[in-house]
Amino acid sequence: MSEQKRGMHGIWSGRWTFILAATGSAVGLGNLWKFPYITGENGGGAFVLVYLACILLAGIPVMLAEVLLGRKERMSPINTMAAMTDKTGAPKLFRGIGWMGALSGFFILSFYSVIAGWALLYVGKIAAGAFVGIDADGSGAAFGAMLADPVGLTIWHTVFMFLTGVVIARGVNKGLEATLKVLMPLLFVLMLILFGYSLTTPGFMQGFHFLFDFDFSKLSTESVVVALGHSFFTLSLGMGAIMAYGAYMPGDQSLGRTILWVGFLDTMIALVAGMIIFAIVFSNGLEPSSGPGLMFVSLPIAFGSMPGGIFFGTVFFILVSIAAWSSAISIAEPAVAWAVEKGISRVKATAGICSFAWVLGLGTVLSFNEWADYKIFGKTFFDSLDFITSNVMLPLGGLLIAIFVGWFMSSDAIKDEMKMKNETLFSIWRFVLRFISPVAIALIFINGLGLI
Ligand code: TRP
Repeated sequence: MSEQKRGMHGIWSGRWTFILAATGSAVGLGNLWKFPYITGENGGGAFVLVYLACILLAGIPVMLAEVLLGRKERMSPINTMAAMTDKTGAPKLFRGIGWMGALSGFFILSFYSVIAGWALLYVGKIAAGAFVGIDADGSGAAFGAMLADPVGLTIWHTVFMFLTGVVIARGVNKGLEATLKVLMPLLFVLMLILFGYSLTTPGFMQGFHFLFDFDFSKLSTESVVVALGHSFFTLSLGMGAIMAYGAYMPGDQSLGRTILWVGFLDTMIALVAGMIIFAIVFSNGLEPSSGPGLMFVSLPIAFGSMPGGIFFGTVFFILVSIAAWSSAISIAEPAVAWAVEKGISRVKATAGICSFAWVLGLGTVLSFNEWADYKIFGKTFFDSLDFITSNVMLPLGGLLIAIFVGWFMSSDAIKDEMKMKNETLFSIWRFVLRFISPVAIALIFINGLGLI
């Protein structure tokens, strides 16, 4: 059975490939675009601290649990959860993890593709020299003009969704692995160059203090909910993406260390992106709380004024697009893998799922222009979709996963799969997963319900 399943979706070819693929999934718009802007909206330091705590106490433990479940059954999250629920005799409710995950995937992919489309559009703009010598007002105006044009946004949304579909349709192994091996290190190098540049700006220290000085008076209930939600979003947790990738992981690989690597790299990239962006924000008198446009308004100012800015800027936005691409693939994978297990061809499954998400994405496109005034509970279509997925569906998925692995799987069954050598670390992880993660998520969740 498991051998056959193994053949069905393929398996990562080497020890490092899972790390690469999982990091490719984790590092994306969440780190470069979303983390800085939500940090800006939520007042900075205290938010960052809560976010780091959520990564450590909920994100990493749940990630380990997800990969474990995936590797144990080697099927799509929907079928993995169905099988595990039956095997352990857990309430049927836990099957819902797989279904809710697939639905979250549709929702997230729909808006993710629109935002990634912005990055694609910016590649061309920067390459054409549109930002040379630009100031904060000019950059803000260029961003505003982009949002005001639904046709342009739709074109790039379409291009991105198509690119995503092509890779998924071909299967996960070849194209993706090879590409990521080159690109992830390149992204790292480019961020270091930008970081070096940001050190020379007058606003660097102000940005640094904004990110790392804890002022708890700025922390609202909503900020805590957003921090928890983002810790799931940025690590691709709570909806089965990492579970699906775990299903393709070689059986002899030790899980613990692998997952720590992914969590560490993802967090570092987000923090570095934050330092770069806030240095530019404060150097140019921009508002940290200016919302989803923060990266798209601030970075072009830097590229417009630094030596070689056209070159670095073009390469940077290409890398952002690629980071988004490798993430988008993982968002769709759970649903596609499930359809394939149903006997639908991979190409057809991908086409269907991407088309559906594409249509839903038009709602996000319009929420920045034609529909900007239509609000659901005070939020635009895009904001609502983002809020429901990150702050409700992903944490709920994570909560159920923590309870399932923590309370319904036997310690022996887990150990057998984990191949973890260190007994103490195992005990700490299991304790956190059983007691700390679920309680923390549930508390934040219950408090946050008042916000909906
Ligand atoms: N983690 C990715 C990012 O930060 C986005 C992502 C990929 C994701 N797969 C996911 C988010 C699954 C939630 C669930 O950009």
